[in-house]
Amino acid sequence: MAARSLLDLDDLSSAEITELLARARAFHAAPPPRTLLRDVCVVNLFFEASTRTYTSFAIAEARVGADVVALPPGASSLGKGETIADTALTLAAMGVRAIVTRHPESGFPYRLAESFDGHVINAGDGRHAHPTQALLDLLTLQMEFGTIAGLRVALVGDILHSRVARSNVFGLCALGAEVTLVGPPTLLPDAMVCAGVRIERNLDRVLPEADALMLLRIQRERIASAVLPSLEDYARNYRLDARRLAMLRPKAIVMHPGPYNRGVELTEDVFAFPGWRYAQQVSHGVYVRMAVLDLLVNGFESARGAERVRSA
Ligand code: NCD
Repeated sequence: MAARSLLDLDDLSSAEITELLARARAFHAAPPPRTLLRDVCVVNLFFEASTRTYTSFAIAEARVGADVVALPPGASSLGKGETIADTALTLAAMGVRAIVTRHPESGFPYRLAESFDGHVINAGDGRHAHPTQALLDLLTLQMEFGTIAGLRVALVGDILHSRVARSNVFGLCALGAEVTLVGPPTLLPDAMVCAGVRIERNLDRVLPEADALMLLRIQRERIASAVLPSLEDYARNYRLDARRLAMLRPKAIVMHPGPYNRGVELTEDVFAFPGWRYAQQVSHGVYVRMAVLDLLVNGFESARGAERVRSA
């Protein structure tokens, strides 16, 4: 059977997402033995800047006992004209079992997975997907509220260019949350409406009803300057500040995948808000990534259950 990869959350069934979150919670409660991935070689292949995601994967890999090689983009032969397929073959021939990759091009991990005989984990591709970020966001919501079904979650800002938003919409819908996307038409076109997701232009209307807000950075590096909104207009309409924080429900939480831009999508008042969960999100990332590595390499229980049903 081909090795499982995690390219986006639609690779996983709702049962598998639930199992993954449960495994991450178990690792949070008690660290697993550092032998889960003994003798499994993992390569981290990041072609784009990353503070949180890179470090979080590196820590997770160490905690499950994998052998880890970091391959900086300048050091890989992709720049010398080697194809992705040849790189994949070369790494597999050395016994590499998993590749964690981030790339500015949407779809890069998919092309790698087609030729690599092992697990590929997408750590962010272009504006397309960032499944482990969405999983850590789901874990944060689940640990806060107990369940995700029925939660009212609003994603605010640059939805169009955000791989975090795309993967989160998948995951939140799969687990039964009520999702609202909030932003200006340049960053959230009407065409982004999908089944079960509401679009709202007016943030103030959403605040009193949301259980959780996910703020997003304006992804300047992915936006043609012609459509970049004026930052003054953006801040006036969408920045979370003291006045807007006061409109939130008492138990509401505010999340951000980082890196955040002070003064643009939030003011420093947010850091003093009791429901600000950025640090928890970052911390949960390590447990989620340990769980992803464990379940991809060692197998999902839910898949084994399905296998038993099929063979019965
Ligand atoms: C995000 C990313 O790189 O996709 N950050 C992250 O991984 N936590 C979001 C961003 O760049 O704005």
